[in-house]
Amino acid sequence: MPAALKQSPARSEITGLLEEARNRTLLLVTDLSDADLHRQHDPLMSPIIWDIGHIAHFEELWLTRNLEGPIEFSEMPGMYNPFEHPRATRASLPIPPLSQMLDRLNEIRERVLQRLDSIEFDETNPLLARGYVYHMVLQHEYQHNETILQTLQLKQGEPYLPPRRSYRDDSINAGQWNGMVTIPAGRYSIGTDDRSEAYDNERPRHSIQLGAFEIDRSPVTNGDYLQFIADGGYSEPIHWSGAGRKWLAESGAFAPKYWNRDGDAWMSRSMDRIAAVNPDKPVCHVCFHEAEAFAAWAGKRLPTEPEWEVAASWDPVTGSNRIFPWGDTISSAKANVDQLRFDTSPIGSYESNVSPLGCYGMIGDVWEWTSSDFCGYPGFESFPYREYSEEFFGSDYKVLRGGSWATRPGAIRNSFRNWDYPIRRQIFSGFRCVRSL
Ligand code: AVJ
Ligand code: FE
Repeated sequence: MPAALKQSPARSEITGLLEEARNRTLLLVTDLSDADLHRQHDPLMSPIIWDIGHIAHFEELWLTRNLEGPIEFSEMPGMYNPFEHPRATRASLPIPPLSQMLDRLNEIRERVLQRLDSIEFDETNPLLARGYVYHMVLQHEYQHNETILQTLQLKQGEPYLPPRRSYRDDSINAGQWNGMVTIPAGRYSIGTDDRSEAYDNERPRHSIQLGAFEIDRSPVTNGDYLQFIADGGYSEPIHWSGAGRKWLAESGAFAPKYWNRDGDAWMSRSMDRIAAVNPDKPVCHVCFHEAEAFAAWAGKRLPTEPEWEVAASWDPVTGSNRIFPWGDTISSAKANVDQLRFDTSPIGSYESNVSPLGCYGMIGDVWEWTSSDFCGYPGFESFPYREYSEEFFGSDYKVLRGGSWATRPGAIRNSFRNWDYPIRRQIFSGFRCVRSL
């Protein structure tokens, strides 16, 4: 059903989704000690207990206080306001131990459900129409799950032991996804007008003109990336931008994060598992500068956001955009999303994860770097708060698309936009390349 025609959700549906989101958050952290929860594992990340408290207080803010109106929404108070406390300082906040935190979570949730009992999904109130604010809060929890997984991958001390891991290392023919797809020049649309789930930065749907280009049929693999390394990619300045060279010199990087040399072999680690780098998996944990240097080495470039979104969503038969590469129905079975695999999967593992134009894996496995700065689309309107998107618009951030294995299905779709600094690689990030024709 087209997004614009979506009906108001049933209250029981929302209750179920809220409960499911919480169960997953708690599953991820269930075996961690209070010491591990309160520790600052890396200056880039919050202590995990902060994410948990922040999830709950964001929920309280939007699903109790800001529902009472009037029009000015209030801000997140105190300890859990990300703008008052930068990540690197959060370990010194007086955050309670998990047992007390769980009481707080439950107390907030009780009030949220009580309020939900009498909610009318008033079509004239954009916060409530089609359940928007509930979907926003759900996506916020999903997104912080991925943040927590970044922290767990960075974790100091004993490695994180994933609970309930569903792991399969399929033997598939990854080679069938080599090569590029040609996309003709033309007028296309990207973005969405959906107001039930989409974030403000995905709106409005608008048309764009693209020149003809080719795009990789799959994300760049470890095998491809090994060739770049073997060819001296990290020591050949010609492939790197000025900012890229600066990052290279300061970081001393010589391979993706979490890769290590063992004699002649390259090993990589995902959580507690260390294994030989699998050439058929998408390369993960590279920053924008590495992606850009690889593309230059390969005689290609990174896609712009419109190029990426057209390749993921455009259906030439209907002349419209699909919400997901495989169609309009959300699914955790069609792509490597939803966390529990705790790793990327070899290219080709998910047979139906193919866009109408023939690209594999636009959603799942790894976030894909684009060459685009994070900016508002023409006609952008901030809603419901500036600090989600607008605050970050400008040339400091590059956009990533498509979600990773650590992304929950409810927080990814073809129009979804993520962003980060071009030097970041603790995120689950890879890329694919394009070439103008
Ligand atoms: C969209 C991943 C960049 O983590 O800063 C979480 C998501 N926003 N809470 C972030 C977010 C507010 C955001 N990213
Ligand atoms: Fe947040």
